[in-house]
Amino acid sequence: TDRTFVMIKPDGVQRGLIGDIVSRFERRGLKIVAMKMLVVSDSLAKKHYEEHAAKPFFPSLVSFIKSGPVVAMVVEGRNAVPIVRSMVGATSPSNSSPGTIRGDLALETGRNVIHASDSPESAKREISLYFDNSEIATYKRIDEQWLYE
Ligand code: GTP
Ligand code: MG
Repeated sequence: TDRTFVMIKPDGVQRGLIGDIVSRFERRGLKIVAMKMLVVSDSLAKKHYEEHAAKPFFPSLVSFIKSGPVVAMVVEGRNAVPIVRSMVGATSPSNSSPGTIRGDLALETGRNVIHASDSPESAKREISLYFDNSEIATYKRIDEQWLYE
């Protein structure tokens, strides 16, 4: 099955939104197979967002991501990458639809509460940045027979 990497950013943690966000994935039928709280180091922040290294917002993005604890997760399920991206909503909360995480919970691009991988290749890269294989669990949800045809 497909896996994606999700991170509740420091604003989401400090605003007390961890439970709301995790609950959305659980209710959708996705499976949390790894989860931890950590403070991101400077080198990890730069590696995570290396595709944006040349952008003007890169320094503020890196300092924001390091500014407090985050909750990193691996989320599993069929088509997990596009399904989670659609649940997260557009990068700029002024364009994110109500019903999405950013559309319900955020106001500004630089404080948009959550990160999710944008492709299966990014997911693989980001999961390996944050987790060892031994930290990823294998189990069955009791409702899998009703989630999948
Ligand atoms: P992530 O899931 O965090 O990667 O967001 P995304 O894939 O929706 O957006 P993208 O990868 O293009 O940008 C990464 C992050 O950089 C965004 O989530 C924002 O927090 C931040 N960012 C992107 N564009 C801007 C911008 O124009 N200004 C500021 N301040 N931050 C930006
Ligand atoms: Mg991105």
